[in-house]
Amino acid sequence: MQLIDGKSLAKDSQARVAKEVEALKQTKNIIPGLAVILVGDDSASRAYVKMKAKACKEVGFYSIVHEMPDSISQDEIIATIEMINTNPRIDGILVQLPLPKHIDAEKIIEVIDPKKDVDGFHPYNVGRLVTKLDCFVPCTPLGVMKMFEKYEIELRGKNACIVGASNIVGKPMASLLLNIDATVTITHIHTKDLKAHTLSSDIIIVGVGKPNLITADMVREGAIVIDIGINRLENGKLVGDVDFDAVKDKCSFITPVPGGAGPMTIAMLLENTLKATQAREIK
Ligand code: GUN
Repeated sequence: MQLIDGKSLAKDSQARVAKEVEALKQTKNIIPGLAVILVGDDSASRAYVKMKAKACKEVGFYSIVHEMPDSISQDEIIATIEMINTNPRIDGILVQLPLPKHIDAEKIIEVIDPKKDVDGFHPYNVGRLVTKLDCFVPCTPLGVMKMFEKYEIELRGKNACIVGASNIVGKPMASLLLNIDATVTITHIHTKDLKAHTLSSDIIIVGVGKPNLITADMVREGAIVIDIGINRLENGKLVGDVDFDAVKDKCSFITPVPGGAGPMTIAMLLENTLKATQAREIK
């Protein structure tokens, strides 16, 4: 079994971005800028945004966080995004999800300029991803692909089972794998026999937020298991969706939680923002 060290890959990626930022500053006097919108008081969202802002600072980005109360109206959020869309100092816009119930997240995302959509959630980028055109790819699935690449894991012709069909992880993950010629199954809450699907798969990618959802009897010998879940247990321990201790010895590769897919997500946000800056620069 080989542990996929997302933390170390993320560190390398962050160092690369920092170097490029320095070069952009020195040669062109350009500083990449990221704007984050955080609505409400969700403690997990707050923690993620804090980590993202810290990473931006570390690589030398200009970053701003627009904090808005739960009571804010959809129109006020839209007006803020429209303002950021035209702000020349900002290359990337990220609206932290989930949004409060009275806000239509799809409407909000559609207002973001697709060229600043570093989360890759705008329908323009989603459509381009599905058709295998250059686009912003959502950060978590992009980070998973980077892990496959770095560990030289061949995907062509492999059976991949994705557990969870969200717009943020499951669906873009499926497109990326399909684009590289894997055979992809997406399972979700209504899937009848999850175990039948995971057992027949070379690669299992799970991100639903349910501790111990994937147990040893659901994993075939030699499988590759990517755990995107993040769950805080009552005892304070952070775990993924995979019963790691029981599953790890059956795997050829597995990601730990923490230290696997999580750090890669933030690293890919930095890479996407740099990509947006470089696109601005060559315009
Ligand atoms: N909420 C959970 N994951 C993400 C993410 O990757 N981007 C945004 N904007 N919100 C999230």
